[in-house]
Amino acid sequence: MSESKKAALVFGVSGGIGSNIYSNLKRKNFEVYGFSRTTEPNNNIISEKYLKDLSLKFIEQKIKIKIFINAIGFLHDNCYSPEKKLKDINQEYMKKCFEINTIPTALMIKYFCPLMTKDEKSIFASISAKVGSISDNYLGGWYSYRASKAALNQIIKTSSIEQKRVNKNLIMVSIHPGTVNTRLSNPFIGKKKVQTPSEAAIKIINLLETLTLEDSGLFFDYNKNIIPF
Ligand SMILES: NC(=O)c1ccc[n+]([C@@H]2O[C@H](COP(=O)([O-])OP(=O)(O)OC[C@H]3O[C@@H](n4cnc5c(N)ncnc54)[C@H](OP(=O)(O)O)[C@@H]3O)[C@@H](O)[C@H]2O)c1
Repeated sequence: MSESKKAALVFGVSGGIGSNIYSNLKRKNFEVYGFSRTTEPNNNIISEKYLKDLSLKFIEQKIKIKIFINAIGFLHDNCYSPEKKLKDINQEYMKKCFEINTIPTALMIKYFCPLMTKDEKSIFASISAKVGSISDNYLGGWYSYRASKAALNQIIKTSSIEQKRVNKNLIMVSIHPGTVNTRLSNPFIGKKKVQTPSEAAIKIINLLETLTLEDSGLFFDYNKNIIPF
């Protein structure tokens, strides 16, 4: 890739939302790099080692990043479901939520924000969830997922403050995609009418296109409403 070409990176391209963001960005003339456990079967793509080594490859190739999106997330698996009550709290499930929903974004910021374009607007976005809003929590439950997304939002906010000093053109946001019919949400949707992953991806990309530097550090939904932390 030539020195001036701008890239977009998407993590979680095997997922409902991530795969659609990836294909939409491809149609928009970006050089898009997508990552998932499927594309990297021999690597743990959320480990510090993997992220560091990958960032070094981008440095070597002098690739500057215009858009970075992390669409990886975890809510349930064959062993665990989100907690309905305190008694359901389980150390392994809580750890897994933080290991997938929170810590990778911090590492991605550490290794990839230095590679974001500085001479024009660039965007680092992580897909969060409205249930991670502390002030919007009226229903309770889902302790681990809520806490892992609240912590993710704090990481975005905190790093946006630091990044304003080093890259004044970098916008960092958390995004709530709305309720979207994917593997992650499917068991919890019931008969509700929800967005398709393709609809959600289009809205997320529209949102990214309208973001300004003043928006950095904030938590938005897919319609660009600010969600209070
Ligand atoms: N769907 C909704 O209604 C909704 C609502 C609010 C927020 N969100 C958020 O939206 C984001 C995208 O989720 P989605 O709805 O598109 O769900 P999804 O289809 O289940 O996609 C989840 C993605 O995360 C990846 N992932 C999970 N665990 C991983 C691990 N240990 N290592 C590497 N990758 C891992 C999956 O990879 P594999 O394919 O390899 O498992 C997949 O690419 C998540 O952050 C989720 O929390 C979704």
